Amino acid sequence: DIAETSADIQRVDQRDIAEAAAMLRNGGTVAFPTETVYGLGADARNTGAVEAVFAAKGRPSDNPLIVHIADLDALDELVTEVHPVAVALMEAYWPGPLTLVLPLRPGVLSPLVSAGLDTVGVRIPDHPVARALIRASGCPVAAPSANRSGRPSPTLASHVLEDLSGYIGGVLDGGAAGVGLESTVVQVQPDGSVSILRPGGITAEQLSAVSGAGTVDNTSAEALDFTPKSAAPVSPGTADLNAADGEFPASAATDKNPAPRAPGMKYTHYAPRGWLGVVDGSSPLRVAERAASLLQAAQLNGEITGLLLFDEHIALYPAAPAACVTSLGSLDSPEEAARSLYAALRRFDEAGATYILAEACPVTGLGAAIMNRLMKAAGGTLIDAG
Ligand code: TXA
Ligand code: MG
Repeated sequence: DIAETSADIQRVDQRDIAEAAAMLRNGGTVAFPTETVYGLGADARNTGAVEAVFAAKGRPSDNPLIVHIADLDALDELVTEVHPVAVALMEAYWPGPLTLVLPLRPGVLSPLVSAGLDTVGVRIPDHPVARALIRASGCPVAAPSANRSGRPSPTLASHVLEDLSGYIGGVLDGGAAGVGLESTVVQVQPDGSVSILRPGGITAEQLSAVSGAGTVDNTSAEALDFTPKSAAPVSPGTADLNAADGEFPASAATDKNPAPRAPGMKYTHYAPRGWLGVVDGSSPLRVAERAASLLQAAQLNGEITGLLLFDEHIALYPAAPAACVTSLGSLDSPEEAARSLYAALRRFDEAGATYILAEACPVTGLGAAIMNRLMKAAGGTLIDAG
């Protein structure tokens, strides 16, 4: 795997890695590239260091961190028994974008890492810089994604600095993250079935190829949603219903206008600063027509509009359907969509977009993770184009 991504390591030399490793050993925080997204690392045994990670991110303390190790040898120290199906999954997909939630061995890690749970999420990242750093530090490295809590995860070192500059020890620049979405988080149940707690870089299809047909449970994905369900659900068609009389909800939260447009807004994840809705429908044409008319109404209402779509559908829209139009690439290449999703969401911020619509995508393969992130970014707002 090192050869495949050797281009990535050119920006980082051994001295950088040694310096970053020393920072980790001394209780500091360092952001580093992984194959999924950039992580913000700290020595998982050091409560002060882990506290600094929560503080830099503004992360609620009831949301546990993933522990990153460089080799399988480091696993025994952290966990007790490991189910044979979990072993098979590690053999198949480590190093790689799969996190296993395992029974925590007491007394080794800072209790903040597991947020008081008796389990810990562990993975071996498939990135030469990440593994060199972990090895050189000699620490199990607790690392959430290196973004401010609620923001899109960072797929470039510059994203990390955008969010966390001044709050962390530094960042190792390994170029663009290859997968672009976080790891899949799973827990193997005593009966050997696999619960997906968060869809991600390893698909349900890949999991069942190892654990057996019919053994993968997708329904617990919300178990990882530590955000309170908003009491008043976001109403999907609000903007649309009110468009006729020119009444759009108040603008999304900004420094000048702190009132969130949708009640669930402050609990969204992966979110751009503007308001975001996901549009789905019975055909691409229905989706495009509905999105185009919503965008037009929003534009008339003074919103700075954004549209996130797929290459195949561009021709279904009128010319310049939004002020900022970004494609996730071809529907045939969900890998490309995953890789570019978070940067695309950040691009809307750069454009100052206040009203953004995103096309839904099929939820097979990586599409499940892409739609999961889009829906979270949208705070659950799904607009049905019929
Ligand atoms: O790809 C990734 O997983 C990235 C890179 C940096 O490795 N990391 C990442 O970490 O996405 P974070 O903290 O942003 O997300 C970790 C997810 C959270 O949803 C958390 O609730 C869940 O994993 N998690 C961690 N430990 C857990 C546990 N013991 N039980 C259940 N969920 C856990
Ligand atoms: Mg995260």
